[in-house]
Amino acid sequence: MKGIVLAGGNGTRLLPLTLVGSKHLAPVYDKPMVYYPLSVLMLAGINDVLIVTRPAEIELFRRLFGSGSRLGMRIGYAAQAEPRGIADAFRVGADHIRGEDCALVLGDNLFHGAELPALLRSTTQGLRGCVLFGHQVADPRRFGVAEVDARGRLLSVEEKPEHPRSHLAIPGLYFFDDTVTDIARGLHPSARGELEITDVLRAYLMAGRAHLVRLGSGVTWLDAGTHESLLAAGRFVRDVQHHQGTRLGCVEEVALRMGFINADACYELGAEMSDSPYGQYLMASARAHRLSRTPATSPEE
Ligand code: G1P
Repeated sequence: MKGIVLAGGNGTRLLPLTLVGSKHLAPVYDKPMVYYPLSVLMLAGINDVLIVTRPAEIELFRRLFGSGSRLGMRIGYAAQAEPRGIADAFRVGADHIRGEDCALVLGDNLFHGAELPALLRSTTQGLRGCVLFGHQVADPRRFGVAEVDARGRLLSVEEKPEHPRSHLAIPGLYFFDDTVTDIARGLHPSARGELEITDVLRAYLMAGRAHLVRLGSGVTWLDAGTHESLLAAGRFVRDVQHHQGTRLGCVEEVALRMGFINADACYELGAEMSDSPYGQYLMASARAHRLSRTPATSPEE
């Protein structure tokens, strides 16, 4: 399965933070925002990812991740010249997807929770049609909104409705089978001039091939697209990390855990940042990983 991180757009809701920089490189506590959505794709087992960004920012992302090889991945880059909407990612990324299933994550969405790895695993295995998620929120008007029947089956999806039919917001993480590029090719811009992700979801829904999975309390979802939510996301990350002694969105550690890299490679990545607690954490994770893999020595006879 291929992956796309959509890190384009003008980030106008975060001005002036985004006047000369990418929203998706803004710090969420101790790391660039894009680490969080990228680590979600990695947890889903995806090691071939395209990052779609504004043309002026491609070089910045390339400096951050290079070819992806240091994470045991393939990371490519593509420019979205104009912010033409989320579904445009499938047009820009058509060559990257090339007839495979594809996961799309929005570059300002963060997910965390003990249930997340298993949920991602079950979603990617035997994917038919598309999978979207639903998360209960107090005010769904600034999100895509899903309506479900009493049995949890998806009835409708709407983009930022004035009068939402439910409180079920659709987070920015979606899994599609290989028909997504054809569907995206046939889309027309909405009234606000964008190729809407909800129109892609609706096409699958009409064909009876859209599946909604509700995110329960075992998964936290945050988006960091406004000043308030950016700060809230940073606080959340700090609090969880402090409390649990782990790191969220730690791409190097996820690469180790997923078997993309070995402990030596992870240690080396940490050693390059050994002045920072982040680097020290990577080195400690690599050491712990090595120990967990060392077979217990049998007592001498
Ligand atoms: C986008 C999508 C929306 C989704 C949201 C999740 O909105 O259009 O359907 O619910 O991301 O973060 P945006 O926040 O980019 O306006």
